[in-house]
Amino acid sequence: MNVITQDFIVNRSDLAQTRWVSGSAPAEVSLERGQILVEVEKFAFTANNITYAVAGDLLNYWSFFPAEAGWGRIPVWGYGSVVRSHSEEIAIGERLYGYFPMSSHLVMQPESVTPGSFLDLYRQRRDLHPVYNTYSRLQPGRGTAAVLDDLRPILSPLYTTSFLIDDWLADNDFFGASQALLLSASSKTGFGLAFALLQRRPQGPRVVGLTSPANSAFVESLGCYDAVLPYDGIATLDPSQPTLVVDFAGDGDVLAVVHRHFGDRLVESTQVGLSHWDAPRPPAELPGARPRLFFAPDQAQKRMQEWGREGFDTRLGESWRAFATEASAWLSIEHGKGPEAISRVYAAMLSGRINPAVGNILSL
Ligand SMILES: NC(=O)c1ccc[n+]([C@@H]2O[C@H](COP(=O)([O-])OP(=O)(O)OC[C@H]3O[C@@H](n4cnc5c(N)ncnc54)[C@H](OP(=O)(O)O)[C@@H]3O)[C@@H](O)[C@H]2O)c1
Repeated sequence: MNVITQDFIVNRSDLAQTRWVSGSAPAEVSLERGQILVEVEKFAFTANNITYAVAGDLLNYWSFFPAEAGWGRIPVWGYGSVVRSHSEEIAIGERLYGYFPMSSHLVMQPESVTPGSFLDLYRQRRDLHPVYNTYSRLQPGRGTAAVLDDLRPILSPLYTTSFLIDDWLADNDFFGASQALLLSASSKTGFGLAFALLQRRPQGPRVVGLTSPANSAFVESLGCYDAVLPYDGIATLDPSQPTLVVDFAGDGDVLAVVHRHFGDRLVESTQVGLSHWDAPRPPAELPGARPRLFFAPDQAQKRMQEWGREGFDTRLGESWRAFATEASAWLSIEHGKGPEAISRVYAAMLSGRINPAVGNILSL
């Protein structure tokens, strides 16, 4: 157990400014009846976590794990283990999977406990969407292979979105498009979508990945895009093809080129991400389909009503396992340990100095 609790906090108005803050010893953290203290074991870090910070005020991400005024703790997906318990239902030593802060420890308040999960209803987390405050209780003795244990927090939350976008596009007959452009094709959510679209062959559109020149070779090596182009290669595409775009980059200049190139033949413009978080936003008026945000929970809810909760979980689970098997060969996992390693990976991710072939797993 760490001697003191530690939190990685970022300045909400200047994400490049970060600090480590120390708290009391874990044994001295105050726990009320029903609460537990969890030691954060390890967590994944991708551009998606930077987006949580960029959109922290707009989408409420800062309220998940509050910090001192003006600063925030970024949420991450990972594992923790229970080191103290005032709960009658959750024992010391239990291993959990879910949403944690970039911290050494977290006080939680498990409620609605089942053998496989619980809801954390600690203070402000009471009001969150269950996607973010449901924790899996991992059964002892049913361990997964080390690679899958690391791949899960890196890829599975992202792949759920990829799966839902693919399903939503197919549900809408791809809006009549014969071609799909994926912006930020090297992102894990992007190539997850390309993988899901590939499974539909011979149905579905031709899939073109747009990426930075430095990431082209990696994207080509995946084999799940029909073509890979650099961002300045949009003009080489046939503008007469009915085309849809799914944007994980959020670079307004690139999106504007796509809209102007295809004009009315751009039948759908789906906004998913902001991996190019410091790029300009798109102009208000663009030719072609009006850009709109994809809201994953809407499609999830629709399918849960149609397929039932079990049917939804079965389909997502099968698709995830197929993707994870492929992706375990696409990514190499790098483990970073300690405050310095965590600060370094954060700074690299913020500035885009990252290798898309690496999945980061961090721990204190
Ligand atoms: N709305 C949702 O429900 C939802 C769900 C999942 C993910 N997303 C969003 O999708 C995006 C991708 O997330 P991810 O975790 O899959 O990403 P990731 O795998 O970590 O993405 C890495 C790629 O993003 C681009 N990139 C990252 N940082 C950059 C920077 N500072 N400047 C320029 N390019 C940068 C590069 O791709 P290129 O060279 O190919 O551009 C890089 O290879 C994020 O914005 C995330 O929030 C949204």
